[in-house]
Amino acid sequence: MDGNGRWAKKRGLPRIAGHNEGVESVRDTVEACGQIGVKYLTLYAFSTENWKRPEDEVSMLMRLLMRALRDETDKLHRNNVRVHTIGETAALPREVRDELYEAIERTQHNTGLNLLLALSYSGRWDLTTAVRRIAHEVRSGVLDPSSIDDHIISDHLSTGSIPDPDLLIRTSGEFRISNFLLWQLAYSEIVISECYWPEFRREELYKAITSYQQRERRFGMVSEQIHPKKDKSSFVGKFLKSVSGI
Ligand code: FPP
Repeated sequence: MDGNGRWAKKRGLPRIAGHNEGVESVRDTVEACGQIGVKYLTLYAFSTENWKRPEDEVSMLMRLLMRALRDETDKLHRNNVRVHTIGETAALPREVRDELYEAIERTQHNTGLNLLLALSYSGRWDLTTAVRRIAHEVRSGVLDPSSIDDHIISDHLSTGSIPDPDLLIRTSGEFRISNFLLWQLAYSEIVISECYWPEFRREELYKAITSYQQRERRFGMVSEQIHPKKDKSSFVGKFLKSVSGI
């Protein structure tokens, strides 16, 4: 959710005004995702590196998060949204953690949109934590090193059984992953939106999804393997041709 500061600066406002307006974008995006049947939405709300920002911005952001969680949990619950978090949540101030855990607990049985809040999160932190957990399991004899494969690594990441993202939307026209879900994004499609995050509303989300729908995801394979019916020279193609006469 990039560009809050620049959005505010352009209007001669303090950076926090951009973060405040960014909450409106969060509201609209979450609601739209729930309505169109998106199953998982991960919001990169605060990175490990964001702790290095000026103290007053960090504390204002923490207050904003706490307020947003307090004000929105009822509505999220009514809309059947299930809240999760990824990141080093132990580093968050107690008041934020309390609101966060309350939202997670209240919404735990909801079956609609899964909303993952990445807080004090970075992809390198996630991988480091996973490696540490795997090493412990190897040392205690629970895990055989030769059985470590990409599924085992995925399972030890903070996203656990949550599927890898299909689509990554980066706002404010930046072409960077910025230490987001480094492992999980291996085959995600990327859409760069020119909007600053506070300007990002559901219309921009729909544009990104429409762009995603026009992509061909090959996962390292060739087009004909993905769409065998289109390839009349393949075995399946020949078979279809012989039975359909086309
Ligand atoms: C990046 O813009 C944005 C952030 C570091 C904070 C995002 C947080 C919110 C929108 C608050 C609410 C979140 C939830 C989940 C309720 P930036 O400050 O880096 O902008 P800049 O690059 O223009 O300076």
